Amino acid sequence: MKTGQIVIALWLCLILITAVSANPNPLKIIEVYQQQGASRTDANRGKQLWETDTEGRRCTSCHGDSPSNNGSHIKTKKLIKPMALSVNPERYQDDKKIEKWFLRNCKWTFGRECNVQEKADILTWLSSQ
Ligand code: HEC
Repeated sequence: MKTGQIVIALWLCLILITAVSANPNPLKIIEVYQQQGASRTDANRGKQLWETDTEGRRCTSCHGDSPSNNGSHIKTKKLIKPMALSVNPERYQDDKKIEKWFLRNCKWTFGRECNVQEKADILTWLSSQ
């Protein structure tokens, strides 16, 4: 291959990688997390965290096994509406609300706060559901 062809081939690869990795409709708060140090988001990592069991506690303890279905608060039994953006477009509209619940729920579930990468990954997964 000539140098020119190689350059074009590399360029096409780059475009492809960008197109595949870009979330078509990222939440603004994910961009904020990235400004705060989170790198490229990974929906699978987010899903894993969502399902991680820490001494019997998981995000799904209250939010239910499928983000597309209603959840039920493990203590109060109150209904929690679906977390999947496709079934519940009211989700993730208020950054303050998101931050408030991440703080509370990560502490309850994992016994610690979530970092910006974890929050970005979890939201990437939930908002793509
Ligand atoms: C003890 C019950 C409980 C657990 C466990 C729980 N949550 Fe929640 N979560 C709630 C409640 C209650 C709300 C607020 C009501 C609502 O938004 O429907 C909420 C809301 C949220 C929101 C805000 C959504 C929005 O629309 O802004 C996020 C984000 C969230 N939770 C993430 C998590 C993550 C991540 C975990 C696991 C680390 C988790 N939650 C575990 C009860 C829980």
